[in-house]
Amino acid sequence: MNVTEAVTSRRSVREFLDKPVDLETIRRVMDTARWAASGCNYQPWEATIVTGQPLKDLQAKITTTPPQEAEYDWTAPGQEDAYKGRLNAVSKGMFGSMGIARDDGEGRMKAMARNATSFDAPAVLFCYFPRLMKEAQWSDTGMWLQTVALLLREEGLDSCFQEFMALYANVIRDFLGLDHDRYMLFCGMAIGYRDPDAPLNNFEREREPLDDTVKFVGF
Ligand SMILES: Cc1cc2nc3c(=O)[nH]c(=O)nc-3n(C[C@H](O)[C@H](O)[C@H](O)COP(=O)(O)O)c2cc1C
Repeated sequence: MNVTEAVTSRRSVREFLDKPVDLETIRRVMDTARWAASGCNYQPWEATIVTGQPLKDLQAKITTTPPQEAEYDWTAPGQEDAYKGRLNAVSKGMFGSMGIARDDGEGRMKAMARNATSFDAPAVLFCYFPRLMKEAQWSDTGMWLQTVALLLREEGLDSCFQEFMALYANVIRDFLGLDHDRYMLFCGMAIGYRDPDAPLNNFEREREPLDDTVKFVGF
């Protein structure tokens, strides 16, 4: 698989096959991802990847705990119509693929709640970093996460990033033995093998036209 194939075949997968992810494969991915760039080479990212019974135990805690206030805000762009439109488009594709109508609030809530068990993925990566990290290091961490996602594709694996997990930061930090004062829980990442036939993994996604977002000068 070349890089273009990894980029274009990656999509957020929300239905997984009942097939475990082995340690050797995931270690290989994480080992290579260390070569992601970061400003000043700080390498701010940290993660724990959980599978098997420990994952079930953590999910039992997540599903029985009310969500907390998220420690960071991922909703701000929704104030502007252009961004709101992009969110609406992905919601339409996602819920539409499951046959959930626009006005079916309960159905939507139920579908969203599947985030709590990471869509039954066999493994979940929890990503965190010390709270002293600022915008630049959040961005570095995103680059590292994307590197992980692309390397997973090379191994035939799929993923879905999950900022949803920020609503359970306290539960997750407790479980992982992380100091609440020191660590920001950034996101989860469901990892496993995609169910190729699931409509939820096949709805059409939208992207803005290149020339609306990137300018080329001096060519
Ligand atoms: C940092 C980050 C957090 C995300 N959190 C969630 C999440 O909590 N739940 C979810 O279903 N998708 C989540 N997504 C997936 C996005 O909805 C998805 O990337 C976007 O709609 C584009 O679709 P694609 O990944 O299939 O290309 C997240 C993506 C990123 C990058």
